[in-house]
Amino acid sequence: MRHVIRNEHIPVLLQPVLQYLDPQAGESYLDLTAGYGGHARAVLECTKAPEQATLVDRDANAIAALTGFAKQGAMLVQGDFLSVSQQLVAAGRQFDIILADLGVSSPHLDNAARGFAFGQDGPLDMRMDQTQTLDAATVVNTYSADDLARIIKTYGEEPRAKTIAQAIVAGRPFHSTVALAETIRSVMPKGSKTHPATRTFQALRIAVNDELELLRASLPLWMQLLKPGGRLGVISFHSLEDRIVKQAFAEVAGDRYDAEALPLTKGAVTADDTELVFNPRARSAKLRAVVKK
Ligand SMILES: C[S@@+](CC[C@H](N)C(=O)[O-])C[C@H]1O[C@@H](n2cnc3c(N)ncnc32)[C@H](O)[C@@H]1O
Repeated sequence: MRHVIRNEHIPVLLQPVLQYLDPQAGESYLDLTAGYGGHARAVLECTKAPEQATLVDRDANAIAALTGFAKQGAMLVQGDFLSVSQQLVAAGRQFDIILADLGVSSPHLDNAARGFAFGQDGPLDMRMDQTQTLDAATVVNTYSADDLARIIKTYGEEPRAKTIAQAIVAGRPFHSTVALAETIRSVMPKGSKTHPATRTFQALRIAVNDELELLRASLPLWMQLLKPGGRLGVISFHSLEDRIVKQAFAEVAGDRYDAEALPLTKGAVTADDTELVFNPRARSAKLRAVVKK
Protein backbone atom coordinates (compact mmCIF):
# COMPACT_ATOMS: atom_id res chain seq x y z
CA MET A 1 0.00 0.00 0.00
CA ARG A 2 1.55 3.33 -1.06
CA HIS A 3 0.76 6.39 1.04
CA VAL A 4 1.23 9.83 -0.48
CA ILE A 5 1.39 12.53 2.19
CA ARG A 6 1.05 16.23 1.39
CA ASN A 7 0.74 18.89 4.04
CA GLU A 8 -0.76 21.77 2.11
CA HIS A 9 -4.03 23.39 2.98
CA ILE A 10 -5.23 26.50 1.15
CA PRO A 11 -7.63 28.46 3.41
CA VAL A 12 -11.06 28.77 1.79
CA LEU A 13 -13.02 32.03 1.45
CA LEU A 14 -10.07 33.92 2.93
CA GLN A 15 -11.00 37.33 1.50
CA PRO A 16 -14.66 37.09 2.65
CA VAL A 17 -13.48 35.96 6.10
CA LEU A 18 -11.29 39.07 6.38
CA GLN A 19 -14.03 41.28 4.95
CA TYR A 20 -16.83 40.11 7.27
CA LEU A 21 -14.86 39.40 10.46
CA ASP A 22 -12.87 42.61 9.88
CA PRO A 23 -9.93 41.97 12.27
CA GLN A 24 -8.48 45.15 13.79
CA ALA A 25 -5.14 45.80 15.48
CA GLY A 26 -5.06 44.53 19.06
CA GLU A 27 -8.19 42.36 18.81
CA SER A 28 -8.43 38.89 20.32
CA TYR A 29 -8.99 35.83 18.10
CA LEU A 30 -10.36 32.35 18.74
CA ASP A 31 -9.82 29.88 15.88
CA LEU A 32 -11.82 26.75 16.69
CA THR A 33 -10.50 24.70 13.76
CA ALA A 34 -7.05 26.18 13.24
CA GLY A 35 -5.84 23.33 11.00
CA TYR A 36 -2.69 24.44 9.22
CA GLY A 37 -3.07 28.08 10.25
CA GLY A 38 -4.04 29.63 6.91
CA HIS A 39 -6.89 31.74 8.27
CA ALA A 40 -5.06 32.35 11.55
CA ARG A 41 -2.00 33.73 9.74
CA ALA A 42 -4.10 36.21 7.75
CA VAL A 43 -6.18 37.29 10.77
CA LEU A 44 -3.09 37.75 12.96
CA GLU A 45 -1.45 39.86 10.24
CA CYS A 46 -4.34 42.29 10.83
CA THR A 47 -4.64 42.03 14.63
CA LYS A 48 -0.86 41.97 15.15
CA ALA A 49 -1.68 40.40 18.53
CA PRO A 50 -0.68 36.71 18.52
CA GLU A 51 -0.63 36.73 22.34
CA GLN A 52 -4.41 37.40 22.17
CA ALA A 53 -5.01 34.35 19.99
CA THR A 54 -6.25 30.89 20.97
CA LEU A 55 -5.90 28.24 18.26
CA VAL A 56 -7.81 24.99 18.67
CA ASP A 57 -7.76 21.72 16.71
CA ARG A 58 -8.62 18.15 17.65
CA ASP A 59 -5.90 16.74 15.38
CA ALA A 60 -2.41 16.36 16.88
CA ASN A 61 -0.76 16.79 13.45
CA ALA A 62 -2.46 20.15 12.98
CA ILE A 63 -1.43 21.31 16.46
CA ALA A 64 2.17 20.24 15.71
CA ALA A 65 2.07 22.34 12.53
CA LEU A 66 0.95 25.41 14.52
CA THR A 67 3.95 25.64 16.87
CA GLY A 68 5.23 28.75 15.03
CA PHE A 69 2.17 30.61 16.34
CA ALA A 70 2.90 29.43 19.91
CA LYS A 71 6.41 30.87 19.60
CA GLN A 72 4.79 34.24 18.85
CA GLY A 73 2.64 33.96 21.99
CA ALA A 74 -0.56 32.28 20.77
CA MET A 75 -2.17 29.61 22.93
CA LEU A 76 -2.56 26.21 21.21
CA VAL A 77 -5.22 23.82 22.50
CA GLN A 78 -5.69 20.28 21.25
CA GLY A 79 -9.27 19.16 21.74
CA ASP A 80 -12.70 19.11 20.16
CA PHE A 81 -14.23 22.55 19.91
CA LEU A 82 -17.20 21.69 22.13
CA SER A 83 -15.13 20.73 25.18
CA VAL A 84 -12.66 23.58 24.58
CA SER A 85 -15.55 26.06 24.24
CA GLN A 86 -17.08 24.75 27.50
CA GLN A 87 -13.75 25.33 29.26
CA LEU A 88 -13.39 28.84 27.81
CA VAL A 89 -16.94 29.76 28.85
CA ALA A 90 -16.28 28.41 32.36
CA ALA A 91 -13.12 30.54 32.49
CA GLY A 92 -15.14 33.65 31.54
CA ARG A 93 -13.19 34.24 28.33
CA GLN A 94 -14.53 36.39 25.47
CA PHE A 95 -13.09 37.23 22.03
CA ASP A 96 -13.44 39.89 19.34
CA ILE A 97 -13.26 37.41 16.48
CA ILE A 98 -14.22 33.73 16.37
CA LEU A 99 -13.88 31.47 13.34
CA ALA A 100 -14.89 27.85 12.77
CA ASP A 101 -13.88 26.41 9.39
CA LEU A 102 -15.57 23.02 9.67
CA GLY A 103 -14.70 19.55 8.46
CA VAL A 104 -11.47 17.98 7.33
CA SER A 105 -8.29 19.60 6.04
CA SER A 106 -6.55 18.80 2.75
CA PRO A 107 -3.81 16.83 4.60
CA HIS A 108 -6.57 14.60 6.03
CA LEU A 109 -7.85 13.85 2.53
CA ASP A 110 -4.43 13.62 0.88
CA ASN A 111 -2.86 11.31 3.47
CA ALA A 112 -4.19 7.84 2.62
CA ALA A 113 -3.13 6.52 6.03
CA ARG A 114 -5.85 8.64 7.68
CA GLY A 115 -8.51 6.66 5.83
CA PHE A 116 -10.74 9.58 4.76
CA ALA A 117 -10.42 9.07 1.00
CA PHE A 118 -11.72 6.29 -1.24
CA GLY A 119 -9.39 7.27 -4.10
CA GLN A 120 -6.23 5.96 -2.43
CA ASP A 121 -6.07 2.80 -0.39
CA GLY A 122 -5.75 3.20 3.36
CA PRO A 123 -7.03 1.77 6.65
CA LEU A 124 -10.65 2.47 7.64
CA ASP A 125 -9.76 5.11 10.21
CA MET A 126 -11.33 8.60 9.60
CA ARG A 127 -10.63 9.86 13.12
CA MET A 128 -9.64 13.53 13.27
CA ASP A 129 -8.41 12.89 16.81
CA GLN A 130 -6.38 9.71 16.64
CA THR A 131 -6.57 9.14 20.40
CA GLN A 132 -10.33 8.56 20.06
CA THR A 133 -11.34 4.86 20.21
CA LEU A 134 -14.19 4.88 17.68
CA ASP A 135 -12.90 4.58 14.12
CA ALA A 136 -14.53 3.83 10.76
CA ALA A 137 -13.53 0.14 10.89
CA THR A 138 -15.53 -0.27 14.13
CA VAL A 139 -18.60 1.38 12.60
CA VAL A 140 -18.36 -0.59 9.34
CA ASN A 141 -17.56 -3.97 10.89
CA THR A 142 -19.68 -3.99 14.05
CA TYR A 143 -22.80 -1.82 13.58
CA SER A 144 -26.08 -3.50 12.60
CA ALA A 145 -27.45 -3.11 9.07
CA ASP A 146 -30.21 -0.88 10.47
CA ASP A 147 -27.74 1.41 12.24
CA LEU A 148 -25.51 1.60 9.16
CA ALA A 149 -28.49 2.41 6.95
CA ARG A 150 -29.59 5.15 9.37
CA ILE A 151 -26.11 6.70 9.43
CA ILE A 152 -25.71 6.55 5.65
CA LYS A 153 -29.17 8.01 5.09
CA THR A 154 -28.98 10.73 7.75
CA TYR A 155 -25.38 11.87 7.40
CA GLY A 156 -24.89 11.06 3.70
CA GLU A 157 -28.40 11.85 2.45
CA GLU A 158 -27.92 8.69 0.37
CA PRO A 159 -31.17 7.39 -1.18
CA ARG A 160 -29.77 3.82 -1.49
CA ALA A 161 -28.64 3.65 2.14
CA LYS A 162 -30.42 0.37 2.89
CA THR A 163 -28.92 -1.44 -0.11
CA ILE A 164 -25.43 -0.17 0.75
CA ALA A 165 -25.80 -1.15 4.42
CA GLN A 166 -26.85 -4.68 3.44
CA ALA A 167 -23.89 -5.00 1.04
CA ILE A 168 -21.52 -3.84 3.77
CA VAL A 169 -22.87 -6.36 6.27
CA ALA A 170 -22.65 -9.17 3.67
CA GLY A 171 -19.09 -8.26 2.67
CA ARG A 172 -17.46 -7.59 6.02
CA PRO A 173 -14.96 -7.51 7.62
CA PHE A 174 -13.50 -4.55 5.71
CA HIS A 175 -10.05 -3.23 6.49
CA SER A 176 -9.35 -0.80 3.64
CA THR A 177 -11.00 2.22 2.07
CA VAL A 178 -10.76 0.93 -1.49
CA ALA A 179 -12.28 -2.47 -0.63
CA LEU A 180 -15.23 -0.71 1.00
CA ALA A 181 -15.61 1.76 -1.89
CA GLU A 182 -15.59 -1.08 -4.44
CA THR A 183 -18.30 -2.98 -2.56
CA ILE A 184 -20.43 0.16 -2.52
CA ARG A 185 -19.79 0.71 -6.22
CA SER A 186 -20.91 -2.86 -6.98
CA VAL A 187 -24.46 -2.21 -5.71
CA MET A 188 -24.90 1.29 -7.15
CA PRO A 189 -26.30 2.27 -10.56
CA LYS A 190 -23.62 2.93 -13.18
CA GLY A 191 -22.92 6.28 -14.78
CA SER A 192 -23.03 8.68 -11.83
CA LYS A 193 -20.79 11.78 -12.14
CA THR A 194 -19.42 11.46 -8.61
CA HIS A 195 -17.92 8.29 -7.12
CA PRO A 196 -20.81 6.13 -5.84
CA ALA A 197 -19.14 5.89 -2.40
CA THR A 198 -18.93 9.69 -1.88
CA ARG A 199 -22.07 10.03 0.27
CA THR A 200 -21.35 6.91 2.31
CA PHE A 201 -17.80 8.07 3.09
CA GLN A 202 -19.13 11.47 4.15
CA ALA A 203 -21.68 9.74 6.40
CA LEU A 204 -19.09 7.49 8.05
CA ARG A 205 -16.75 10.43 8.65
CA ILE A 206 -19.53 12.49 10.26
CA ALA A 207 -20.53 9.54 12.47
CA VAL A 208 -16.97 8.70 13.54
CA ASN A 209 -16.22 12.31 14.50
CA ASP A 210 -19.71 13.15 15.80
CA GLU A 211 -19.46 16.27 13.67
CA LEU A 212 -23.06 17.50 13.62
CA GLU A 213 -23.77 17.03 17.32
CA LEU A 214 -20.58 18.86 18.28
CA LEU A 215 -21.51 21.73 15.96
CA ARG A 216 -25.11 21.93 17.21
CA ALA A 217 -24.05 21.96 20.87
CA SER A 218 -21.19 24.44 20.30
CA LEU A 219 -22.99 27.25 18.46
CA PRO A 220 -24.71 28.72 21.58
CA LEU A 221 -21.38 28.63 23.42
CA TRP A 222 -19.69 30.53 20.61
CA MET A 223 -22.23 33.33 21.07
CA GLN A 224 -21.34 33.42 24.78
CA LEU A 225 -17.64 33.58 23.87
CA LEU A 226 -18.13 36.74 21.75
CA LYS A 227 -17.53 40.17 23.25
CA PRO A 228 -20.17 42.81 22.49
CA GLY A 229 -19.28 43.94 18.95
CA GLY A 230 -17.46 40.63 18.38
CA ARG A 231 -17.82 38.75 15.08
CA LEU A 232 -18.41 35.01 14.59
CA GLY A 233 -17.91 33.30 11.22
CA VAL A 234 -18.65 29.67 10.40
CA ILE A 235 -17.61 27.98 7.15
CA SER A 236 -19.52 24.79 6.30
CA PHE A 237 -18.98 22.28 3.50
CA HIS A 238 -22.27 20.45 3.08
CA SER A 239 -25.96 21.10 3.49
CA LEU A 240 -26.30 19.26 6.82
CA GLU A 241 -23.75 21.54 8.48
CA ASP A 242 -25.02 24.66 6.77
CA ARG A 243 -28.60 23.96 7.89
CA ILE A 244 -27.48 23.82 11.54
CA VAL A 245 -25.52 27.09 11.23
CA LYS A 246 -28.34 28.83 9.35
CA GLN A 247 -30.92 27.84 11.99
CA ALA A 248 -28.68 28.84 14.91
CA PHE A 249 -27.92 32.22 13.33
CA ALA A 250 -31.61 32.79 12.54
CA GLU A 251 -32.35 32.29 16.26
CA VAL A 252 -29.67 34.66 17.57
CA ALA A 253 -29.66 37.20 14.74
CA GLY A 254 -33.25 37.02 13.54
CA ASP A 255 -35.41 40.03 12.80
CA ARG A 256 -36.47 40.66 16.45
CA TYR A 257 -35.94 43.70 18.68
CA ASP A 258 -34.35 41.52 21.40
CA ALA A 259 -32.04 39.58 19.05
CA GLU A 260 -28.62 38.99 20.57
CA ALA A 261 -26.77 39.56 17.28
CA LEU A 262 -27.09 40.96 13.77
CA PRO A 263 -26.34 39.08 10.56
CA LEU A 264 -23.18 40.21 8.74
CA THR A 265 -23.61 38.04 5.67
CA LYS A 266 -26.78 38.16 3.60
CA GLY A 267 -27.47 34.46 3.10
CA ALA A 268 -24.34 32.37 2.69
CA VAL A 269 -21.17 33.67 0.99
CA THR A 270 -19.60 31.27 -1.52
CA ALA A 271 -16.34 31.20 -3.45
CA ASP A 272 -15.97 33.25 -6.63
CA ASP A 273 -14.63 31.82 -9.90
CA THR A 274 -11.10 33.09 -9.23
CA GLU A 275 -10.86 31.20 -5.95
CA LEU A 276 -12.28 28.03 -7.52
CA VAL A 277 -9.51 28.03 -10.13
CA PHE A 278 -6.76 27.65 -7.54
CA ASN A 279 -8.73 25.89 -4.80
CA PRO A 280 -11.44 23.53 -6.11
CA ARG A 281 -12.06 22.41 -2.48
CA ALA A 282 -13.78 25.79 -1.95
CA ARG A 283 -16.54 24.64 -4.33
CA SER A 284 -18.96 23.69 -1.57
CA ALA A 285 -17.79 26.14 1.12
CA LYS A 286 -20.36 28.53 2.64
CA LEU A 287 -19.57 31.34 5.06
CA ARG A 288 -22.16 32.78 7.43
CA ALA A 289 -21.26 35.46 9.96
CA VAL A 290 -22.94 37.44 12.74
CA VAL A 291 -21.93 40.33 15.00
CA LYS A 292 -22.95 40.36 18.67
CA LYS A 293 -24.83 43.50 19.75
C1 LIG B 1 -11.01 22.86 7.13
S1 LIG B 1 -9.76 22.53 8.27
C2 LIG B 1 -9.30 24.11 8.87
C3 LIG B 1 -8.23 24.78 8.09
C4 LIG B 1 -7.78 26.11 8.64
N1 LIG B 1 -8.83 27.07 8.69
C5 LIG B 1 -6.61 26.63 7.81
O1 LIG B 1 -6.74 27.68 7.17
O2 LIG B 1 -5.58 25.96 7.78
C6 LIG B 1 -10.67 21.92 9.60
C7 LIG B 1 -9.84 21.58 10.81
O3 LIG B 1 -10.73 21.51 11.90
C8 LIG B 1 -10.42 20.43 12.70
N2 LIG B 1 -11.69 20.05 13.34
C9 LIG B 1 -12.80 19.59 12.74
N3 LIG B 1 -13.77 19.40 13.65
C10 LIG B 1 -13.26 19.79 14.83
C11 LIG B 1 -13.80 19.85 16.14
N4 LIG B 1 -15.05 19.43 16.41
N5 LIG B 1 -13.01 20.34 17.14
C12 LIG B 1 -11.75 20.76 16.87
N6 LIG B 1 -11.18 20.70 15.65
C13 LIG B 1 -11.94 20.23 14.64
C14 LIG B 1 -9.85 19.38 11.78
O4 LIG B 1 -8.97 18.53 12.47
C15 LIG B 1 -9.13 20.24 10.74
O5 LIG B 1 -7.78 20.40 11.05
